Amino acid sequence: MSALARPSHLLSPLDMRDLHLQNRVALAPMTRARSGAERLANAMMAEYYTQRASAGLLITEGTTISPQANGWVCSPGIYTEEQAEAWRPVVDAVHARGSRIVLQLWHTGRASHSAFHGGELPVAPSAVKIEGEGVHTPEGKKPHETPRALETGELPGVAADYASAAARAKAAGFDGVEVHAANGYLLDEFLQSKTNRREDDYGGSVENRFRFLGEVVEGVEEAFPGRVGVRISPNGSFNDMGSPDFRETFTYVARRLDEMGLLYLHVVDGLAFGFHGLGDAMTLEEFRAVFSGPLIGCCGYDREAAEAAIARGAADVIAFGRPFLGNPDLVERFDNGWPLADAPDASLWFSGEQTVAGYTDVPMYDAVGAGV
Ligand SMILES: Cc1cc2nc3c(=O)[nH]c(=O)nc-3n(C[C@H](O)[C@H](O)[C@H](O)COP(=O)(O)O)c2cc1C
Repeated sequence: MSALARPSHLLSPLDMRDLHLQNRVALAPMTRARSGAERLANAMMAEYYTQRASAGLLITEGTTISPQANGWVCSPGIYTEEQAEAWRPVVDAVHARGSRIVLQLWHTGRASHSAFHGGELPVAPSAVKIEGEGVHTPEGKKPHETPRALETGELPGVAADYASAAARAKAAGFDGVEVHAANGYLLDEFLQSKTNRREDDYGGSVENRFRFLGEVVEGVEEAFPGRVGVRISPNGSFNDMGSPDFRETFTYVARRLDEMGLLYLHVVDGLAFGFHGLGDAMTLEEFRAVFSGPLIGCCGYDREAAEAAIARGAADVIAFGRPFLGNPDLVERFDNGWPLADAPDASLWFSGEQTVAGYTDVPMYDAVGAGV
């Protein structure tokens, strides 16, 4: 019997708490930088997401919660009513195709640059700079800066920005929100000992380093009850991350999040986006052992690995990032055993221009042309 003739775990539906998904394929959050300087979602983005709506769940690109959160050229925001309204046609178009869509809430933390903030330094838990490549700013590529450590008294305001953004996402019709606590951005910086050197109640012990994420999730949950996911990246090195106590930290984080009744926990478990190598990589099974809700795995998966992860009970959903760049119809390709196309050239991933090239002009599989 061919692999395809076997029933697919990946393509079977799932009730993720009270959210019905048509299959267990998710679009991973991917910044595509097509929103213009006003950071407004637009018709081209509606088309891009709709093209991928055969996935059970679409997770949007990182969407900033406040002007302070900005750190990427032409990524979208949700800190004004106008920005929230601009998302509504995207959500409606995706719903019309039977998929679900959650908005990723983003604060770029130390990965930002003063060029985004009228000369003010970006903020972070502590004044610890990213070592490595620079950052793309409205004024071109610049070296990273040492961020300003947030005052304790500023933290409730940042948490409130997350909650307001979640309320706007709910009003715009999203099915939920994903709190971005991965990949070295603000919330990940609070969690990890490498970037959190604070001496107040938000730093030091793992309990203290979790405190800010816990408060953010509480506020977001109040704004959008029952529909809050969280993304973490325990193994990642992106944005110069990786802490020697990563296993202890992320096991604790997952345990605490489990008490909060999340819609899901999204773990970037794979190593294909950079691995810090500070010990054996954490596995989905380790998260299953401490987190009882729905679990999404991500990074470096192909169809076989995704089927296997779901079949052995390690994950409920697998999110695909780069495979979706060149294959808007990834689900149909999986379903029919059609070959996958390569991703478009990397220069088109985050263009910063409102261009369709490598974005909405990526073709679906031509089954007729291929003689299938
Ligand atoms: C173009 C691009 C943009 C990305 N933007 C985001 C983002 O906005 N938020 C996020 O959490 N991860 C982002 N990621 C990481 C992906 O969600 C995913 O974790 C990574 O691509 C690994 O999965 P893959 O091997 O299936 O591509 C991005 C990745 C790519 C390639």
